[in-house]
Amino acid sequence: MLGALALLTTALLGHAWPTPPYSPPGGVGVSPDSPPPVYEPYSEFDFQSLNLALNQEWIELDLFYRGLEMFTLQDFLDVGLNSEDRELIEFMAQQERGHAQLITDMLGPNAAKECNYTYPFTTVPEYVDFCQKLTRFGESGVYGFLPHLNSRPSAQLLLQSITTEARQQMIFRQFEGLFPMPVWFESAITQSMAWTLLAPYLASCPSENPRIEWQNFPALNITDNPVGYDPAYPPAITHNRTALSYPGRQVTFVWEEPGKKVGPNDLYTTSSDAGAPKFAAWISQLNTTYTPLYNISGQSAYTYQPNGSVFDIEGYYDPIVNDTMFILITDSDLHVTPYNLSLLNEHVVAGPAMYQSG
Ligand SMILES: *[C@@H]1O[C@H](CO)[C@@H](O)[C@H](O)[C@H]1NC(C)=O
Ligand SMILES: *[C@@H]1O[C@H](CO)[C@@H](O)[C@H](O)[C@H]1NC(C)=O
Ligand SMILES: *[C@@H]1O[C@H](CO)[C@@H](O)[C@H](O)[C@H]1NC(C)=O
Ligand SMILES: *[C@@H]1O[C@H](CO)[C@@H](O)[C@H](O)[C@H]1NC(C)=O
Ligand SMILES: *[C@@H]1O[C@H](CO)[C@@H](O)[C@H](O)[C@H]1NC(C)=O
Ligand SMILES: *[C@@H]1O[C@H](CO)[C@@H](O)[C@H](O)[C@H]1NC(C)=O
Ligand SMILES: *[C@@H]1O[C@H](CO)[C@@H](O)[C@H](O)[C@H]1NC(C)=O
Ligand SMILES: *[C@@H]1O[C@H](CO)[C@@H](O)[C@H](O)[C@H]1NC(C)=O
Repeated sequence: MLGALALLTTALLGHAWPTPPYSPPGGVGVSPDSPPPVYEPYSEFDFQSLNLALNQEWIELDLFYRGLEMFTLQDFLDVGLNSEDRELIEFMAQQERGHAQLITDMLGPNAAKECNYTYPFTTVPEYVDFCQKLTRFGESGVYGFLPHLNSRPSAQLLLQSITTEARQQMIFRQFEGLFPMPVWFESAITQSMAWTLLAPYLASCPSENPRIEWQNFPALNITDNPVGYDPAYPPAITHNRTALSYPGRQVTFVWEEPGKKVGPNDLYTTSSDAGAPKFAAWISQLNTTYTPLYNISGQSAYTYQPNGSVFDIEGYYDPIVNDTMFILITDSDLHVTPYNLSLLNEHVVAGPAMYQSG
């Protein structure tokens, strides 16, 4: 339409009009001369990022239905959730059908199929907490690679599905009685960090599924993680809750050595390229913050929760740590920002684990 207008104007006025009106120079893929978008991976990096994302969508589809099958309406009523909440979870499962279809269409005939899964919950609160955490690392895992994809058209479509997943994450927080969004910015993590968190729940996959070519880091466990679920805070749009932890809180870790078989059919092996453990890396909001490890003994140590803010603007203070966020054990306090976070991968000794600070 605007292109036709430009041609017409050129014909009438006799001079070239190089760009449509209201088109500041710059941008990618916005010129009338741009090739039509192709919604497919342009590189192996794209394929593997989408492959990981598809495996995440498949487990969400299975997980949302699983809770509805495992627990009765009465189980939900007992913790303050009702049949309409169950309907909402079922709707989320349907959204996952769409998300899985979208990525399958982009990946073509080699796209991964659904797997068999193993889950750590036996009660409704544990289920809701698991959903809240799984959607958190699913969401953050995609934010970490979206701007790095070669295929911007694929990034566009994935963006439009991950924003829906972000809403699911917040709803599960509300179902858990947590503060719905205790941060100003959602965190991003790398594909290998997301795959490390996802792999333990994949029991077996169809043999033709493409291998997931990201690293599995050794598992990390926070042995004194705050518990989000508290019967004093039933499901609600929001509660005036305070944070579940505080700067200076001691946080204790145990982690595994590399070389453990993980993932579907134990086909993957954990590894680390890092040297000796020295720091806890706290990935939250826009920041990766390091605190020293103390009493490092074999695969255990402790640290203290850092203080500090993302922003402190005219007294409005956004603490870096105040959400379901990510901690890793590293050999270095390498300065990284969200766009170059993947440079941290080679310094990871173990993790991430998810810390429930808000
Ligand atoms: C899932 O588990 C069932 C029952 O053990 C088995 O028959 C099926 O082949 C498995 N599917 C996959 C994709 O591993
Ligand atoms: C982590 O540590 C806690 C406390 O020791 C323990 O209850 C839990 O089973 C551990 N989790 C894993 C995945 O090892
Ligand atoms: C919520 O907490 C803030 C301080 O954290 C307090 O000033 C406010 O009065 C509380 N509001 C309600 C409705 O409890
Ligand atoms: C750390 O190690 C020191 C010396 O072995 C010991 O006294 C202290 O209790 C340990 N601290 C913790 C929190 O384990
Ligand atoms: C954390 O930082 C804030 C803002 O600078 C400050 O008010 C608070 O006292 C600090 N807390 C700790 C435990 O250092
Ligand atoms: C966190 O990141 C923001 C944005 O880059 C920066 O302004 C702030 O200083 C960082 N905070 C800390 C504690 O590093
Ligand atoms: C990551 O990017 C920041 C700028 O955003 C830069 O200061 C830092 O040195 C980079 N980290 C590495 C390891 O290159
Ligand atoms: C931290 O999170 C709590 C909920 O866990 C929230 O009530 C509080 O407002 C948050 N604090 C800040 C300074 O954003």
